[in-house]
Amino acid sequence: MDRLVLVERRTFLQSLAAMAVPLPAASCMPETYEPLEPAVPPLSQAAAENNSRLFGAAMNMQTLVSGSAGYETALRECSSITAEWSFKWDKIAPRRDEYDFEEADHTADFARRHNKKMRGHTLLWHLGMPEWADTQLAETGDWELVRAYIQTVVPRYADIVDEWDVVNEPIDITGGDNLRQNQFLRSFGKDYIERAFWEAHEAAPQTKLFINEYGLEYASPEEGQRRLSLIRLMEYLVNRGVPVHGLGLQAHLDLRKGAVYADGLHGLLRDIAGLGLTVSITELDVREQERSQSLLDRDRAVADEVQRYLDIVLNFHAVKSVTTWGLSDKNSWLATSRDGKADNRGLPYDTQWKRKPMRAAIESALSQGRPSA
Ligand code: XIL
Repeated sequence: MDRLVLVERRTFLQSLAAMAVPLPAASCMPETYEPLEPAVPPLSQAAAENNSRLFGAAMNMQTLVSGSAGYETALRECSSITAEWSFKWDKIAPRRDEYDFEEADHTADFARRHNKKMRGHTLLWHLGMPEWADTQLAETGDWELVRAYIQTVVPRYADIVDEWDVVNEPIDITGGDNLRQNQFLRSFGKDYIERAFWEAHEAAPQTKLFINEYGLEYASPEEGQRRLSLIRLMEYLVNRGVPVHGLGLQAHLDLRKGAVYADGLHGLLRDIAGLGLTVSITELDVREQERSQSLLDRDRAVADEVQRYLDIVLNFHAVKSVTTWGLSDKNSWLATSRDGKADNRGLPYDTQWKRKPMRAAIESALSQGRPSA
């Protein structure tokens, strides 16, 4: 704990004593929670007041421990929760004929108790498959495996999940038909996508069903091709009457790629909205480029990119929610050695759960971006 936090915590305890409030036992005081930051309107409120949007974050059982900073911050900021990994097939069914709902239920119960929505993430994802299911699909090509999974999981959370990412990351421009050559495609052909949507629709007819995709924000020819392929896929599904309701834009922004490409994003959103679909920003965060600058400069660069991105997308009525992929840099999936850097400041709160400029950028974009398209 740094000195400032210690001083603030001492002042907090002193002020409780002055008010003759019984002091909480030391062991009950959450380690990192700082109640003394000046109040600001919750992001969920900023989102709701403009175009009735939701603000959400990806969380998991470990970041939703009652009384922890993560728990309190999610409680205050979010109107929607996504499970960062607990709703994925390999977490729910790590072994054949065995379901493990502990983590998923924990997250869903948090949302239920506190009256928040959930995004169900995700049913079919090539990187979220348990090995046994991948093997079995390859051997038998039996749709029953997919059917049984969807019909077990989707009804369980039908009361709380308002959007399911039915298929995650189906686009790959190096694959035939610009579709990812995953096990589903190998076993069932392109039809796997619409069959999965029909299954999910049957399991929870009220739930909005989404395709969720990444790599759509920048001006490179590759991302241009990805945008085009995705629009074609959505158009194909809509024209076939498939119960698809929306598109999830992951929005993993990346400062190494330059600034987001406004024209490309406008075109994408205009076409998706034109198909009558809604859009959710589902996994917003920023991968940093330059870590040798001061923390302030790094945080400004991150916040500026987020502001640019949100100013573009929130111009569209079709965009109904913004979800960040975590709340604190402490728990970011980018704070790994994936690109050889241990730290990354791409989320709204720092590792000490202090608000950063990125949070202010989200708040300002959510409150100012009156949709005109
Ligand atoms: C990531 C999680 O953050 C990790 O904790 C997990 O190990 C792997 O998946 N796109 C997605 C998310 O759709 O599901 C991924 O989440 C990040 C990239």
